[in-house]
Amino acid sequence: MINQIKILSKINPFNKTIEVESDKSLSIRAVLLASQAIGVSTISNLLESDDVLSAIRSIKKLGIECKKVGKNYKVLGYGLNGFNIKKKTTINAGNSGTLARLILGLLVKTEKVVKIVGDKSLSKRDFSRVTDPLKEFGANIKTKKNSLPVEILGSKFLRPINYVEYRGSAQCKSAIMLAALNTPGITKIRAAKSRDHTERMFKNLKLQINTKFFKKFDLIEVKGLKEFNAFNYVVPGDISSSAFFIVLTILSKNSRIRIKNVNINKSRLGIITILRKMNCKINFKNKKIYKGEETADIIVESSKKIVAVNSPAYLNSSAIDEFLVIFLVAAKANGISNFKNLGELNKKESPRLDIAVKFLQTLGVRVDRKKDNLKIYGNPKIEINKKIHIKNYLKDHRVFMMACIAALAFGGRWKINDKDSIKTSFPIFLKLLKKLGAKII
Ligand code: S3P
Repeated sequence: MINQIKILSKINPFNKTIEVESDKSLSIRAVLLASQAIGVSTISNLLESDDVLSAIRSIKKLGIECKKVGKNYKVLGYGLNGFNIKKKTTINAGNSGTLARLILGLLVKTEKVVKIVGDKSLSKRDFSRVTDPLKEFGANIKTKKNSLPVEILGSKFLRPINYVEYRGSAQCKSAIMLAALNTPGITKIRAAKSRDHTERMFKNLKLQINTKFFKKFDLIEVKGLKEFNAFNYVVPGDISSSAFFIVLTILSKNSRIRIKNVNINKSRLGIITILRKMNCKINFKNKKIYKGEETADIIVESSKKIVAVNSPAYLNSSAIDEFLVIFLVAAKANGISNFKNLGELNKKESPRLDIAVKFLQTLGVRVDRKKDNLKIYGNPKIEINKKIHIKNYLKDHRVFMMACIAALAFGGRWKINDKDSIKTSFPIFLKLLKKLGAKII
């Protein structure tokens, strides 16, 4: 079954308060770190999406007990490398790059071989970006063509490494930080700016971490072999899921939304900075700090005059999962927007840069692409009247959701395949759209 939806009309003006589902990055990190703590950790508000459920299944396969009690997940850890691994263990990371890459970092000291597999999309992605540095720690790793399946056998003789992360990838940085936990001595990382949830969690758990911040990069030092106790964690809402509703509100007439209790970590706020440069009205209310992470309610209003943007490349990493919807705003802006160095977008669940260009052209938007740079020619009067069918995008959840937002904001008669893709990160996405009044068949 292609599990298709149809959208045949724009959304009517709305004024609503919603809560999006919990943050995927924080949920996966909380599960993985709880598997290394001593004792029972309690995680509340855990995102129950396929990527996070794959993380839970994976730690269980590695011998960690985890169960749901009421609304909370309880994880019983036995400390660093406290796995109990059977012969021929295979972990299926499904669609999740974050899970597959981060868990490799935790497996550098295992005594048995663990094989990691994934779905069709994940099996196309590059793993040498984490397996190469993990080999330097001393882990034994086999891959074919630098992609999944990957087999890892840990080592008793790990050594700390000096690692330069130049892509702005939090997955690579975090995999190395997790490997450092099991490694004697000090692992040193010079990392281009990227989301810093792992650093904040390490500090909160009183792990031995030192950070120094510079304009373009961070220096991170992790001293290994420090055990830590079980913890409680309440996961806040996901800004990447909020992004779809922020953009829908901006592009719809006379509308307003309040999205409650969203993580607004600065390293995730690229979308807000870019949209504010485009004259969009976005405000934070009710700001709070929780375990080193900032949260707030996000309030957004329709934008009458969107202006084009020269989006600076230094914001790319902090908006990396949001460009698909940022491009929709550019399509309605007055003027030509510029985006630079977006090659990493083609390394995601699908080749998102290629897909975005084709998608915008299908809508009739002029896009000039030179290598990884885009010029998007905005049209404040953009209106779609034709039939559009979205298919063949490797079931990328964010492509599906972006297409729904385009349909509800710009009109047209749409068929969009693979609705089950939303289970990856945001299972209640369609339900929330219907709550705002969207007609989805
Ligand atoms: C993530 C980091 C980003 C992002 C992904 C989640 C994380 O990937 O695209 O959705 O949780 O660390 P990269 O680190 O590969 O850029």
